[in-house]
Amino acid sequence: MSVPRSVITGVGSYLPKKIVTNDDLSKIVDTSDEWIVERSGIRQRHMVEDGEKTSDLALAAAKAALANAGVDAQDIDLIIMATTTPDNTFPATATTIQAELGIHHGAAFDLQAVCSGFVFGLSTADNFLKAGQFKNALVIGAETFSRLLDFEDRTTCVLFGDGAGAVVLQAQEGEGTIEDRGVLTAHLHSDGRHKEKLYVDGGPSSTQSVGHVRMIGRDVFRHAVVNIADVINEALVATNLTIDDIDWFVPHQANKRILDGTAKRIGLPPEKVVMTVGEHGNTSAASVPLALSVAVADGRIKRGDLVLLEAMGGGFTWGSALVRW
Ligand code: ACO
Repeated sequence: MSVPRSVITGVGSYLPKKIVTNDDLSKIVDTSDEWIVERSGIRQRHMVEDGEKTSDLALAAAKAALANAGVDAQDIDLIIMATTTPDNTFPATATTIQAELGIHHGAAFDLQAVCSGFVFGLSTADNFLKAGQFKNALVIGAETFSRLLDFEDRTTCVLFGDGAGAVVLQAQEGEGTIEDRGVLTAHLHSDGRHKEKLYVDGGPSSTQSVGHVRMIGRDVFRHAVVNIADVINEALVATNLTIDDIDWFVPHQANKRILDGTAKRIGLPPEKVVMTVGEHGNTSAASVPLALSVAVADGRIKRGDLVLLEAMGGGFTWGSALVRW
């Protein structure tokens, strides 16, 4: 039986040049390398300089993904850009990427699910491709999250970083089995009752300003481990697979302790977890495609591998996707 599948044919990423270490931050707020590493696993993060925009990072990642896929920009008919830090309130930063790539056809829009944005974007693109509405998509996760940080709040400013990752997703025909390449299943959730636990205290219609990230870290941590384990289980049940079938786990890179806790809860050995949080920090919507890009470039993820993606973020939002590479 022939079924439509959305296959990831290329991945790329970009990090701003400036690296900010924990010691650098300890000169600004009352913190230490020891505290940050012990509580989060983060050693450094990349941050944009003055004038560097989310679209600059996203464009570089998109070009790298297109080159990796061997796909011409003119073949792209859908761009979904997951970001919490658009260049402007409008237009969608995706349209800037579209214009920069010289594409004048198809659709381009931004998607807001904070740290879950890439998984939400991948699932959205997958559904468009499977429905036959578009053929070749660019799904980008890009953030200049440092623009939302309050550098007087040590409980948040040490956790986040900037960066971008992108994948090319192409409609192909599969056999309808779990051996098919592509997105095999995706599961998305939101629960708006938790808004106050992780949010930005500004916005165009409330304060007419951008605002800063506010977070009750302990509550986020508690929900993250439970929700992530549940949504992973959903993906396994939907495909009739077990955790032993997974070759690589590429989670949202929020915190090493969350990732360790999740891996333990779902019974996944640590060597199958792709972990970049130590070098990148939490880059929100960019973290999953950034980690994917690292693991593909260093040869860990190979064609045919079964890759489990997950993310959780503000809202709360959370989701998982199972992808045959
Ligand atoms: N440096 C030094 N001390 C600090 C710092 C810091 N940067 N930040 C907080 N502290 C202090 C606190 O003030 C507190 O001091 P007190 O006991 O004197 O009051 C102490 O450290 C403990 O603070 P807690 O908040 O209880 O520390 P906790 O062990 O919970 O770790 C952390 C905090 C790292 C934020 C943790 O709760 C966490 O990882 N939560 C998940 C949040 C997260 O990852 N969010 C990302 C966005 S959502 C997502 O992507 C899933």
